[in-house]
Amino acid sequence: MENVHVCDHPLVQHKISLLRDKNTGSKEFRELVNEISMFICYEATRDLPLKEVKIDTPLALADSKIISGRKVAFVPIMRAGLGMVDGALALVPAAKVGHVGIYRDKANGNTATEYYCKLPSDIKNREVIIMDLMLATGVSAVKTVDIVKNAGAKNIKFMCVLTCPEGIKALHDAHPDVEIVCGTIDSSLNEDLYIIPGIGDGGDRLFGTK
Ligand code: URA
Repeated sequence: MENVHVCDHPLVQHKISLLRDKNTGSKEFRELVNEISMFICYEATRDLPLKEVKIDTPLALADSKIISGRKVAFVPIMRAGLGMVDGALALVPAAKVGHVGIYRDKANGNTATEYYCKLPSDIKNREVIIMDLMLATGVSAVKTVDIVKNAGAKNIKFMCVLTCPEGIKALHDAHPDVEIVCGTIDSSLNEDLYIIPGIGDGGDRLFGTK
C-alpha cells in the first residue's frame, strides 16, 4: 500500500496481541501503548536528516553524524493519542508537543469539530508527527492534518497503532502526501465505526473509563 509503513517487527506484533486481549487491564494497556509507540516513532523518524560532524572520542577524532535541520513536533489527537506521547518523547526528548481535540459527532454524519488546539508557534519549521491510537474512519485524522497544514506545516506524518483500509483511504484521499506509520492494518470497520478485530474503545481502555 502506497505511503503506508507497517512496523512488522515481532516485538510490535507481540505487544499488539496483548493490547487486543480484552483481559488486559488499563495499567498494562498503557504500558504496552507506550512501548509500541517507541517502535512506531522509531520508524516514523527514520528519514530525519543527518549532518556530518567530527567528535573527539577518548581515543581519536571520529567522523560521525547528528540530526540536523528541522526539529520535530508531536501532535497527539485527544484523547487516545495522549497515550502515545511519552513513548515518542522518550526517543525525541527535544520535540515540542501540540494538542488537538476533535469531537466526532456520529449522529451528524460522523462529522469532526475542533474543540481544542494548541500548537508550537514554530510548527511550520518542524517535522510534524500526528499521533492517534487508531486511524478508524479517518475523520479526526483528516481534520487534524487540515489544522496542522493551516498552521503552515509541510512535512507531516501520521502514526497510529491500529488502522484499517477505510481509514487509510480517507486520510490519503484528503492528504496523499502524509505517510502513515502504523503497527497493524486490521480488516474493516463495523457499523458502530470500531475497528474489527481491533482493541475496542482505545480511550476507555487507556484511561479506565466506560
Ligand atoms: N476508536 C476506538 O476507540 N476504537 C476503534 O476501534 C475505532 C475508533
